[in-house]
Amino acid sequence: MKLKDLTGCLVQDLRDLLEVASRILGKSVALLTVEDLRGIELAKVLDVFLSHPKGYPVPYIVREVAFYGRSFYVDSRVLVPRSETEELVDIVLSLGVRPRRIADVGTGSGVLGITLKLLFPDSTVILTDLSVGALRVARINARRHGADVLLVATDLLSALRGGLDLIVSNPPYVPEDEVGRYDRRVLYEPREALVGGRTGFEITERLIGQSMERLTPGGYLILESDPSHFHRFPPGTEFVGRFAILRRSG
Ligand SMILES: C[S@@+](CC[C@H](N)C(=O)[O-])C[C@H]1O[C@@H](n2cnc3c(N)ncnc32)[C@H](O)[C@@H]1O
Repeated sequence: MKLKDLTGCLVQDLRDLLEVASRILGKSVALLTVEDLRGIELAKVLDVFLSHPKGYPVPYIVREVAFYGRSFYVDSRVLVPRSETEELVDIVLSLGVRPRRIADVGTGSGVLGITLKLLFPDSTVILTDLSVGALRVARINARRHGADVLLVATDLLSALRGGLDLIVSNPPYVPEDEVGRYDRRVLYEPREALVGGRTGFEITERLIGQSMERLTPGGYLILESDPSHFHRFPPGTEFVGRFAILRRSG
């Protein structure tokens, strides 16, 4: 790779470059100085950065991402957890519930379910995903954080038996023909983690149906979604930011 490849970099690429530098130097981005980037270290940073295509997610390079104050392992088998998704955990906490049985559907790297298990250690937490690769990543993270969770390879909640007090999910919700339109890094993420069907709402709709059959009375389903889909949710759904909150009547 030639240094001229740096021309045409977007602001996001430069942020990524700083992120790589921060990992190599073991110093947070906020504290990096020009001196840190001098000499041999800069060569290392550029080497790592330029050896991947532009827009390749930095968390895949450094094999790590922060979520709700903890570090999680990630690789290209899973979606890179987004910081917006952390708000779903805040919503759960704001409900003031003590769920005994929780499912994180389409768990990917496991960030939501594992975080909830650590917040509600007495609960049974089940992580489901269709992707066996994703469940392997979730298992690495469950071990890393000592979270005793159950991992199930299934379509949404199909293989689960028994009532659930809380179901959380960040399902794929991008319409099939819109992948990559806004953010080129999604081109490197698993398609099945992004595409929610033709309109983008198909998986969410099936999940709502399955959840209503499994939630215990008074139980909650909390989903991340695209606000452009909000009009498709059943009447009575509450919305907070990008999240839909459905409660099974008690
Ligand atoms: C948007 S990612 C979310 C990952 C993680 N929860 C997060 O927020 O970072 C969606 C996940 O759902 C999984 N998935 C897609 N279709 C599924 C289905 N029908 N049943 C179970 N999981 C599914 C994908 O493999 C992917 O891991």
